[in-house]
Amino acid sequence: MTRVVASSVIEKQNVLPDKKRQCVLLFFATFASKGRIVERERKMPDKKEKYLQLIASLRSLTEGEPDAIANMANVAAAIKETFGFFWVGFYIVKGNQLVLGPFQGPMACTRIAYGKGVCGTAWKERKTLIVPDVDAFPGHIACSRFSRSEIVVPVMNGNEVGAVLDIDSERLNAFDETDAYYLEKIAELIHPSLFDRGNFDS
Ligand code: SME
Repeated sequence: MTRVVASSVIEKQNVLPDKKRQCVLLFFATFASKGRIVERERKMPDKKEKYLQLIASLRSLTEGEPDAIANMANVAAAIKETFGFFWVGFYIVKGNQLVLGPFQGPMACTRIAYGKGVCGTAWKERKTLIVPDVDAFPGHIACSRFSRSEIVVPVMNGNEVGAVLDIDSERLNAFDETDAYYLEKIAELIHPSLFDRGNFDS
């Protein structure tokens, strides 16, 4: 029975003129692919939506927690888990160097001097740096050969930088102004615990 129905459909398709048959196939292909895209978008909220959800949960986690290391550890883990970036972590200002803090990902360089690499430059310039292609950034410090693009966001207290949030991606051009905007909001969540220096010891 199934075979009879199937063969009659094939016969019908075969009697359609070529152009008409192509149009019918194109119509169904477009319809099916649109359905797949809508389904995918329904399952995966866009980047802004992901950041908003992430910030809401990080806010409740960090609010009232005075330990900067604990807060940085949870922030790094949550960003890594949400976006799957290659490396997410903090470097903390200690004297004239950045020293590796809580991170998620492969082992990384331990110390970075003021003004060196992307992290040291973001510290010196006191601003977020988006690096679409790390090979094109003069003085980039390659902790891993897999890193292709990077964003570094300073954690600020007025003009003072207390740490930097560093994120690496295996993809070129993985970060844009949306990332910069929301990652700066996330960096602000670290601020109260980081700038009360006693909290490193609590
Ligand atoms: N690429 C950074 C060094 C830190 S790692 O990426 C984890 C830089 O140039 O400062």
